[in-house]
Amino acid sequence: MIDIHAHILPFIDDGPKTIEESIEICKVAANDGIKKIVATPHSKDGAYEANSGDILKGVDQLNLQLRANQVDIEILPGAEVRINEGLVKCIKSGEVLTINNGGKYLLLELPFVFVPPGLDNFVFSLKISGIVPIIAHAERISAFQKNPGLLDQLVRVGARVQINAHGLTKRANPRERKCAEWLLKNRLVHFIASDTHSLKGRPPILSEAVECASRIVGEESAMALVCHNPEQIINGLDI
Ligand SMILES: [Fe+2]
Repeated sequence: MIDIHAHILPFIDDGPKTIEESIEICKVAANDGIKKIVATPHSKDGAYEANSGDILKGVDQLNLQLRANQVDIEILPGAEVRINEGLVKCIKSGEVLTINNGGKYLLLELPFVFVPPGLDNFVFSLKISGIVPIIAHAERISAFQKNPGLLDQLVRVGARVQINAHGLTKRANPRERKCAEWLLKNRLVHFIASDTHSLKGRPPILSEAVECASRIVGEESAMALVCHNPEQIINGLDI
């Protein structure tokens, strides 16, 4: 499996505080059958401003440490980027990292309480520039909880949708779980990812969510959300 949304690099955002903690999180992920993790530190979100150079350096350092500790996980570069006007320019200049630094797939974080007006036009403008936004943890956004059909329109204009593994489990907030299940039933989910920040809260475990998703969309489709689809995007291919 491949986890495309994880706060796994140490001391860069609100993820792990030490490299040892990063390694422990990766060990749990490896145990769950995860082979690759895209490191997606918060970027351009006001509180955290992880820059591309630091992320790329952090990825190299963590990969070295994982090999030294015989943890069979490969870390790839990325970022979770808060929506903002100048995104296309920042991506083209290399200031903002896309998934696996491929210049195509962008993990996009929206405000939790409202959908910015004109979001569909914004998604379309990214598409015109060759960038595909992946809407991060869609089930956590209250506007989508109230009206998950809004995502249908965004997908039609080019967005892709990621939900958190935690959102499908019994431990999830009921509103989040209901939204995640509705999106799955309506085939509006392209990725399940952990959005791990630590071993508490949202651990880097995808298998439990795949089991939950299998009951809704069948095993093959559920597995595609953590294997085939992530593999395609880290290689810059279409889904
Ligand atoms: Fe995140």
